[in-house]
Amino acid sequence: MYLLQYSRMPQNTFYVIGNWKSNKTVEEAIVWGKEFVSLWKKNPFPMNGVQVILCPAYIHLVPLAALIKEANLPLKLGVQDISPYPSGTYTGAVCATMVRDLVEFVIIGHSERRTHFHENGDELLAKIEQAQKIGLFTIYCIQNEQMQIPQGVNIVAYEPVWAISQGDPYATAPEDPAIVAQKIATIKNKSTQQITVLYGGSTTPENVFAYKKQAQIGGVLPGGASLKPDTFYRLLANAAT
Ligand code: PGA
Repeated sequence: MYLLQYSRMPQNTFYVIGNWKSNKTVEEAIVWGKEFVSLWKKNPFPMNGVQVILCPAYIHLVPLAALIKEANLPLKLGVQDISPYPSGTYTGAVCATMVRDLVEFVIIGHSERRTHFHENGDELLAKIEQAQKIGLFTIYCIQNEQMQIPQGVNIVAYEPVWAISQGDPYATAPEDPAIVAQKIATIKNKSTQQITVLYGGSTTPENVFAYKKQAQIGGVLPGGASLKPDTFYRLLANAAT
């Protein structure tokens, strides 16, 4: 296995990783991008250490990369998954080499991939290996504080399945920030690596700051709240406060 030693992420950064999941046509993604640009241009704000990574579907990467560059938005792009194989004869797969000009980050092991696509430990390790070979930063999702974290992942996202929304983060109760902080402390104590651990599950513009206030929590991973440009913009503005 080609698993690099863990590379530490900058310590004073608060990550906001937007996960669009399986949503939006290309046209809808461009509309989202244009609306976000106009919100940002009307009222930009200092990011104050907030690093934003938007993870749309593969088909959205090229037009969004162009919009981000043109408007100089403070967003980086990531992907929601990656092939466990290198480039070659793997019909239908999108591998790390194919996206390396467009993204810096990849989410691996989201609970929805584990549940609906039956991804298991070895396959996830192969994905990490492929991402690392190409130099992508890995965001590895765990669903509870007992789960093993593979050596070498860059960021861990703790995401209890019951707190993840079906698209509307206001319709599901998130986990209490103080309890999340305790669980993240447990994750960090067990780990032999120095890790940045985020929380995901029904985060919104209204609750993001309560997570940020907890020193243990290194960021959030909003799904539903990243789908509308104004909601995502407000979430970022509140995170950067
Ligand atoms: P949610 O999704 O914010 O819509 O709950 C979070 C996630 O699944 O990463």
